[in-house]
Amino acid sequence: MAYLDNREFIKALDAAGELVTIEQEVDWDLEAGAIVRKVCEEKGPSPLMNKIKDYPGHRYLGAPLANYRKLALSMGMDADSSIPQIAEEYLKRTSSPPIKPVLLPKEEAPCKENILMGEDADLFLLPGPMVHEGDGGRYLATWHFVVTKDPDNGDVNWGMYRQMVYDRKTMTGPLLPFSDGGKVFHGKYKPRGEAMPFATVIGPDPLSAIAASAPSPIPETEFTGMLMQQPVSLVKCETVDLEVPAYAEIIIEGEILPDVSLEEGPFGEYTGYRTSPRDLRAVYRIKAITHRNNPITTISNMGIPTDEGQLLRSFSLGLEMEKLLRSQGIPVTGVYMLPESTHHLVVVGVKAIYTNIATQIAQTVFGSKLGPWFHMVMVVDDKTDIYNVDEVIHALSTRCHPINGIHIYQGVGTPLYPFLSAAERIKSVGPKVLFDCTFPLDWDPLNELPSLVSFKNVYPKEIQEKVLNNWEKYGFKS
Ligand SMILES: Cc1cc2nc3c(=O)[nH]c(=O)nc-3n(C[C@H](O)[C@H](O)[C@H](O)COP(=O)(O)O)c2cc1C
Repeated sequence: MAYLDNREFIKALDAAGELVTIEQEVDWDLEAGAIVRKVCEEKGPSPLMNKIKDYPGHRYLGAPLANYRKLALSMGMDADSSIPQIAEEYLKRTSSPPIKPVLLPKEEAPCKENILMGEDADLFLLPGPMVHEGDGGRYLATWHFVVTKDPDNGDVNWGMYRQMVYDRKTMTGPLLPFSDGGKVFHGKYKPRGEAMPFATVIGPDPLSAIAASAPSPIPETEFTGMLMQQPVSLVKCETVDLEVPAYAEIIIEGEILPDVSLEEGPFGEYTGYRTSPRDLRAVYRIKAITHRNNPITTISNMGIPTDEGQLLRSFSLGLEMEKLLRSQGIPVTGVYMLPESTHHLVVVGVKAIYTNIATQIAQTVFGSKLGPWFHMVMVVDDKTDIYNVDEVIHALSTRCHPINGIHIYQGVGTPLYPFLSAAERIKSVGPKVLFDCTFPLDWDPLNELPSLVSFKNVYPKEIQEKVLNNWEKYGFKS
């Protein structure tokens, strides 16, 4: 089953022990952010904050998807599903035929319960939180997405691009030129001197948010339908020619200006650092705000692992890589991007049937659309459990030759890599590294290939079975 409405998902979180409802007043100025940060670092339940200082009637939901239990629930699966089980379900749904959205009449769309136009549309009426101390302002949009449209072919894009409140009518934020929304703005609207209509969706249902933050190969409206296995319900905006999810909590409509940029940031980022300085960035001028009664502003607090940005981006980037490698006929056995790496390190399991297969894997993924977002690939053999960090570290430290197994490449990177100098970041420099953790194929299995000393590898099958069958009788817990 799919949650079409964030409020139904909140009930599911509660039922699974993944929600804490806070009735005492919480300050939008740092206190709410600090609660969400601690929850992320503990991989804990999401806080639903029912009373926000200065904002009667408004609520916050923090860290809505920042652990695998919540991700499983969002897919309508058992909270205890394993990561490979969730991955298998995601791959199955996102390989099924696209499902187009449906349009609801305005009267049936909860996001139209309150409509603020003209002078009444004031960003300070919404409880934008001061997420981290040192942020350049109040960030209203941290778990949300921005809807835009290609002016030539009408393709709609949903992308999660952060937005800071600049004044009561203006937000600012980075619209990176290699994001899909950024490509259309920098490549089409800006050169033509035209403003790009936008709608920011705050408090979307979980699967729409997952689609908007994923490197989806098809329009997110249809990708969401695939994840939901049913159409997502949209409704027309009031002032721009765009459509938004009908059950979302808050919609902000307006235009991104082509001829002006204003300061934004700094902000605590997904790498776990505050890397990019306050700088001139895209300007979102607002025209209207619509919202549900007692709206719930969703907050993601980026910082050290694990926030939902790291978890979901790792998950979707890794699985899009798996599809890409399989489409090239490379015999991968699985792909797992570690959220703890802030989606910088991906582990690829492969049946190493020909020499230099690791190089082929690295060049394929680094050279793809996914390349700018990460810089480390580890290739392991099909016997290594890619989800088991103990086995992955063991493979890296024992099978990767420091001279022959490590390969450096140049590529495109994000301006947020903390290890780059400020000058390198401006140029989107993206050094990449491959750790080939497969043993050479031409080693003699008897005399050269080291034999793995593990329970599965060094005991005869009948002894393994005997020990496993007697495990509880010996006194161990299974
Ligand atoms: C919480 C969060 C905040 C993000 N902020 C930005 C941002 O400010 N700018 C950006 O270009 N990408 C940002 N990203 C990454 C994009 O959401 C991601 O690249 C997504 O695929 C964009 O959609 P697109 O592929 O349609 O461009 C963010 C991701 C998350 C999860």
